Amino acid sequence: MRQQGDIGTAGTRDLSLEREATRFREDVISGLGTSPKRLSSRYFYDAEGDRLFQKIMACEDYYVTRAEDEVLREQAPDVLQALSGGRNGLDLVELGAGDGAKTKHLLRRALQEGRTLRYRPTDISAHALRGLELALGREMPALAVCGEQGEYFELIRRGFVERGTPTAVMLLGSNIGNLPHERARVLLKGVADQMAPDDRFLVGFDRKKDPAMILRAYNDREGHTRAFNLNLLHRMNRELGMDFNPERFIHAPVYDPGSGQAKSFLVSTCQQEVHLPGQGEPFRFRAWEAVQTEMSQKYDDAMIGALAQDAGLRIAARFTDGRGLFSDVVFARRD
Ligand SMILES: C[S@@+](CC[C@H](N)C(=O)[O-])C[C@H]1O[C@@H](n2cnc3c(N)ncnc32)[C@H](O)[C@@H]1O
Repeated sequence: MRQQGDIGTAGTRDLSLEREATRFREDVISGLGTSPKRLSSRYFYDAEGDRLFQKIMACEDYYVTRAEDEVLREQAPDVLQALSGGRNGLDLVELGAGDGAKTKHLLRRALQEGRTLRYRPTDISAHALRGLELALGREMPALAVCGEQGEYFELIRRGFVERGTPTAVMLLGSNIGNLPHERARVLLKGVADQMAPDDRFLVGFDRKKDPAMILRAYNDREGHTRAFNLNLLHRMNRELGMDFNPERFIHAPVYDPGSGQAKSFLVSTCQQEVHLPGQGEPFRFRAWEAVQTEMSQKYDDAMIGALAQDAGLRIAARFTDGRGLFSDVVFARRD
């Protein structure tokens, strides 16, 4: 993994972990200092958040991972074909790769097909990235892996295309759904602007479906999503020295079938103050005041088509699981 201060192959510096820590503090100050209060879902993923997310992915109520896993496992040859445009060589860049469990179906298949493949996982979580690189070293020693730590927009700004081999960029796991429409459009356009005509961009979209099924995925019966959401308070205590009492907050997810947005909140059960060392004024919470911590947009085909259109992309292929819960859509530049 490229670390802070290393010079990447694109000749640019990696996002320093120190800057990420400063940004966390600044985002907490601005997010809790405004009304309505909000915190970015990017901060869910410290080592404990990564561990809890593994539990969410394995639990029965969280259908998202299983549905996409089915797509990439059962349709791996066709997905690879769509990503490489029929050519042998492929540079596979993944944004927010996490544990890469679903991507491994594509990687194994590519190795079996004897393709010249280089896998370039990226993630904001250095912990997740290190785990993935170690696992790949053990499981697929023949695979060329070049990881890079960083935030999506930062990575896109740095540039990811290295000419010579077709590049396929991937954003799996409904990560796109965590971005509001305008940010999602900017991300897609940022990738589109760097793509050559043969390059491809695969995006995983969680589809609109029975609202009860969606809500349950964010409020699973085993309590993993609750622990994941509350971990954000523990993380602010651990990393910023704050004094949240997590027992005074509850996990409150909602799903609005009109907008297709699932949102998670941390709701203060009483009037309280929380302190951040070095920050004069405490953060004040009214009883039942909510902090939004996550938004997950659910899509239908019309919304996916409109997003592609706005970003200058066209749909080259579309893969969906047997129950129609999740779609992996392959985009190409629309020239
Ligand atoms: C929901 S997990 C999904 C992981 C993987 N894509 C999958 O489908 O299993 C989200 C991953 O994206 C990373 N992530 C979240 N926000 C990010 C951001 N703004 N920039 C880069 N990575 C981010 C997290 O660290 C985490 O590993």
